[in-house]
Amino acid sequence: MCGIVGIVSQREFPASALLERLKRLEYRGYDSFGYYDGRALTKRVGSIAVDGRGLTRAGISHTRWATHGGVTQANAHPHASCDGGVVIVHNGIIENFEDLKRELARKGHRFASQTDSEVIGHFFEEGLKTKPVRSVIVDFMRAASGTFAVLAMLKGRDEIYAVKRDSPLVLGVAKDMNLVASDIYAFSDLTDQAAFFENDEFAVIRDDGFQFFDRAGRAVRKPLQRFVWQKESSSRKAFKHHMMKEILDEPEAVDRLLFSLEHEQKPAFDELAGLVRRAKKIIFASCGTSYHASLLGAYFLHKVGVENQTLIASEFRHFANVDKDTLVVAISQSGETMDVIDSLNYARECGGRVVSLVNVPYSTIQRMSDLSLNLLAGQEVCVASTKAFVSQSAFLLRLAREFGFRVNLANLADRVRGILRKREDIRRMAESVAASRDLYVIGRGLTYPVAREIALKIKEISYIHAEGMMGGELKHGTIALIEDGTPVISIINNSDPDIISNTKEVEARGAKVIPITNNPALWRKPGTIAVRTDNDGKFGILAAVAGQLIAYYAADKLGRPIDKPRNLAKSVTVK
Ligand code: F6R
Repeated sequence: MCGIVGIVSQREFPASALLERLKRLEYRGYDSFGYYDGRALTKRVGSIAVDGRGLTRAGISHTRWATHGGVTQANAHPHASCDGGVVIVHNGIIENFEDLKRELARKGHRFASQTDSEVIGHFFEEGLKTKPVRSVIVDFMRAASGTFAVLAMLKGRDEIYAVKRDSPLVLGVAKDMNLVASDIYAFSDLTDQAAFFENDEFAVIRDDGFQFFDRAGRAVRKPLQRFVWQKESSSRKAFKHHMMKEILDEPEAVDRLLFSLEHEQKPAFDELAGLVRRAKKIIFASCGTSYHASLLGAYFLHKVGVENQTLIASEFRHFANVDKDTLVVAISQSGETMDVIDSLNYARECGGRVVSLVNVPYSTIQRMSDLSLNLLAGQEVCVASTKAFVSQSAFLLRLAREFGFRVNLANLADRVRGILRKREDIRRMAESVAASRDLYVIGRGLTYPVAREIALKIKEISYIHAEGMMGGELKHGTIALIEDGTPVISIINNSDPDIISNTKEVEARGAKVIPITNNPALWRKPGTIAVRTDNDGKFGILAAVAGQLIAYYAADKLGRPIDKPRNLAKSVTVK
């Protein structure tokens, strides 16, 4: 996933304004970035530095997550055609780029990168020898297979050509300027007026207006829509990292979501509950952290007799048996995860019904769903998902309550605050395990998904090898790796005798056990993290929050970049 932003303005603006917008999309990719201001093209490896001073009235920019070609300056976007007359940025994958490249090379085009995207600029340059730009775009959409959101500029023209197929793209109309970007975050502080691209549409964007066209180049009328987006609750400036800011946003995010499910999202929530009630089969589809939230949801729903299955989206086609009576529930923070989109396409092909819970409104997954609800967690900038996980889990707990799960959600946000208040103790504990090479996290039933999620956060942010597993599986092999001093985080709910017995097993082999428990009196160990609730559902969420803090503080102690990639910025300007 990459992020793209373009601006065409009636007044001159510094390139840094383009980069400020791009920075809001940094969660979409952060290994390199670049921009074109109508004259020069600047690319850097590393995360976005907001520092372009030259004035312009139109520019395009890109933050990259490498897929085709390594993380190098040459592979960073924008890409220029041979004579520099066409400059493009691209999010997506041009599947037939090798065929297109061969054909263009035969006509004399020389390529400077290993990316699939570079063919786009050369394709435009070749076409422009004989045709106007709109016809070239129509030809491009016919010739290219794969997914793309492309912004292109022609040297000397303050116009942006924006083309979309299966990658997100939205136009924002603000005072004196038009913006085009991968999602509304890029400009949600400037305007609430947007026009969403459908697949195989393109637009010509100028400072004083825009025109959309279909795949055949026919003009399309595109009304502006008003979007509603929650403002971020606190400023990143007060914190060292976005991750900590986002964890501290959790109580507010939970309250906002639960309130909206009783008010503005109530009709949609009731509709979802109805679909769940009537479906013969329910399958969740998601990836990574969102998958762990769906596993928690699967547990909550099973407890109240709602049969369901949860699948990692990249395996969906292999394990799902979807028919017209199946409800497929996609869970995604970004709403743009390709494997989830793929699962939903498959579900549709099989005649299934598609609903989703997403954090990014108007995202692709939301727009391809029959019904979609918003998580309202606010923007997640840090690459590690934290507050969205809490909101996803709270949502699923609320859904389970609809079917009889006993839980008082009114104090959930307060209980999260209670964990956050313990962060000094958690920091000390996390720092004591930061030097470990390996770490294990165990849980059972409700706490198994939480163990998986905590291990994922620790791996992702602190780069310590961490395994999250079912306590019951330990004895079937993994226990061989537990030795003197190996840290094992054990998530112990309501004095569950089975997980207590697994914890004793590892302790007997010398493990340094760190209990996260709602019965701390049982353990009396330094480092024990006490969670105040005896409710199953809330315990899962609160234990996960404690795990997020462990991951954060271990990473901070180790000096890991946390919000950012490991590589450092190095700049080059190509004239
Ligand atoms: C981990 C993390 C990822 C995402 C996964 C799915 O901290 O953020 O594992 O959860 O890539 O992304 P979404 O939820 O956007 O579909």
